[in-house]
Amino acid sequence: MNKKYKSRTIGNHQLSPETLMMGYGYSPSLSEGSLKPPVFQTSTFVFQTAEEGKAFFELAYGLREKEESEEIGLIYSRINNPNLEVLEDRLAVWDNAEKSLVFASGMAAISTSLWAYLRPGDVLICSEPIYGGTEYLSRYILPEFNIKRVGFNAEDGEKGMEVAAQEARDIIKETGGRVGAIFLETPANPTNGLVDIALARRISESFSKDGTRPPVIVDNTFLGPLWQTPLDHGADITIMSLTKYVGGHSDLIAGSSSGSEKWMGPIQGMRTILGTMADPHTGWILMRSLETLKLRMEASNAGAKKVASFLKAHEKVSAVWHLDDLPDGTEDKELFERQCRAGGSTFAFEIHGGEAEAFKVLNALQVIKLAVSLGGTETLASHPAAMTHSDFTQKDRDRLGIKDSLIRISVGVENPEDLIVDLAQALDQISGVVA
Ligand SMILES: Cc1ncc(COP(=O)(O)O)c(C=O)c1O
Repeated sequence: MNKKYKSRTIGNHQLSPETLMMGYGYSPSLSEGSLKPPVFQTSTFVFQTAEEGKAFFELAYGLREKEESEEIGLIYSRINNPNLEVLEDRLAVWDNAEKSLVFASGMAAISTSLWAYLRPGDVLICSEPIYGGTEYLSRYILPEFNIKRVGFNAEDGEKGMEVAAQEARDIIKETGGRVGAIFLETPANPTNGLVDIALARRISESFSKDGTRPPVIVDNTFLGPLWQTPLDHGADITIMSLTKYVGGHSDLIAGSSSGSEKWMGPIQGMRTILGTMADPHTGWILMRSLETLKLRMEASNAGAKKVASFLKAHEKVSAVWHLDDLPDGTEDKELFERQCRAGGSTFAFEIHGGEAEAFKVLNALQVIKLAVSLGGTETLASHPAAMTHSDFTQKDRDRLGIKDSLIRISVGVENPEDLIVDLAQALDQISGVVA
């Protein structure tokens, strides 16, 4: 199973990612002809000889260079497992990466990637707002390890990032530390604020020293992998919570980190030591999900456009933060067209009123489920200020536009007309009078 079946072409014809999701990286001949890869539910793998075991460990622990055509053999499921290896090959196709790694959650992917690159004394430059878990990690936990966070608001565009870079320069001048990483979430959760990945790369290069520079890490959960490919725009590492669109059925928790072999090496080493990899069964379900990923993401994207248009025209809705609605001639619109292929299906909208009115709408929904998370086949709605972003201070919520009147929706693959009828009857529950 350690041989790879990786043809991406027929003659000169390049096969599409959606086609490769059915067979890439797996040969039935290695598993009794089984069309689908079995679940390799095993903790460890038997070596044919002690010499073979020694050779596998030499490569896994980086004790010597790989010989040409040599592959790292299977050792132990915290280090590698066939389900994860095939899945990682397929995710790398979508991410346009040399290598992908799969983790037990999106947060495991984020934290392991950051632990691989940050050291005490470092500065982390970070876009805002970010997912609540990443916010907590970078604002409260990393500082306990003497890692300083310098944030900038995605809405402040180029200027905001330049100001944060200067602040980081001033800090490291004083402390003698370094910028350890630049972390972006674009589009941002829940505002859909966009961050310029190419600019972040230029800033990373401005911190180059002794042949190294801080990696640009992008959380691509909202649009990945179909509608945005951060590695094509200058990112070094792209991360997804696979719990969302890739898993796609709200029935698992997982994450991924992708990039070049060089950037992934330390992350893979850290994953082995922290034990933050996904389990084989989750890997198997994710491979099944990948077969329908494009169909699902196209359907939910089309449905979200219809739902957003309906909300935009509704008298009780004061704003819709869908990426298809960005005004022409703005920095955001230019960035969207340069960086993204579509607006995706997760967005927030504001109603006239406050928390009480938002709760009334959420409580009245019949088809749409009241739950956090996104990217599943079913449509979910939630209240960021009281739920996913409730551990932000009121001041930060105000600064970042996470208002009490804000509802986040993740459109699934239902008939959008049914969703519109559901939203219409829920919005009927409020008066629409400005609070
Ligand atoms: C943008 C984003 N990144 C990361 C995560 C964390 O993913 P997980 O819940 O799989 O750990 C989430 C979860 O909602 C998210 O929305």
